[in-house]
Amino acid sequence: MFLVTGATGGLGRRIVRLLREQDLPVRAFVQLTSRYGELEQRGAEIFIGDLLQERDIQKACQSVQYVISTHGSNASSQGGSQVLDYRANVDLIDAAKAAGVQHFTFVSVLGSDRGYEDAPVFKAKWAVERYLQTHSLDYTILRPSGFASNLLPLAEQLRKRESTYWLVILNRGVQLSAQTI
Ligand SMILES: NC(=O)c1ccc[n+]([C@@H]2O[C@H](COP(=O)([O-])OP(=O)(O)OC[C@H]3O[C@@H](n4cnc5c(N)ncnc54)[C@H](OP(=O)(O)O)[C@@H]3O)[C@@H](O)[C@H]2O)c1
Repeated sequence: MFLVTGATGGLGRRIVRLLREQDLPVRAFVQLTSRYGELEQRGAEIFIGDLLQERDIQKACQSVQYVISTHGSNASSQGGSQVLDYRANVDLIDAAKAAGVQHFTFVSVLGSDRGYEDAPVFKAKWAVERYLQTHSLDYTILRPSGFASNLLPLAEQLRKRESTYWLVILNRGVQLSAQTI
């Protein structure tokens, strides 16, 4: 059984889809208010809980072999970085270890190791990476850069307007190129 946190998020939803396409058993950790209908239709087991509650995390980890932690704080989430990006992941790692989970995948962020002390998300992700490395738990840490899908709302805005926009592409050591879109 795979446990996916942040299963209704941009990345988590795609991971659940991919796992279910391979007919693998998935438990999707979702909030009561989340839009999880699609995950249910795809055959994921829905676990309704709150990642700010340690007991919910412990329950969700029962009978799980693989944890994929994709949740994170954003503008609409209740908890900030310290509780959601840091504390919830530390609780998840502890619960996974106690439940005998075989492998823990943590989605961090590119640059987490660069010491951005004033950037709470980077700081929290870095602290979780170090915490994970001290546990006798097999793990994978992924450090993605900003997702291209973040630009989709902007692309939609551009599509609706008739003005001309300039797309400027800057490559180090290469000439500046620009085009209208
Ligand atoms: N987006 C990027 O460009 C980017 C870049 C680098 C790294 N990352 C990392 O990649 C991961 C996925 O990012 P994303 O943009 O796909 O995330 P996202 O769309 O912002 O999704 C966040 C998820 O966390 C869930 N969540 C928030 N608070 C919760 C709580 N108290 N209990 C249970 N679930 C809760 C949300 O549930 P609801 O649906 O109910 O709100 C949602 O499913 C994150 O760890 C992020 O830090 C993202």
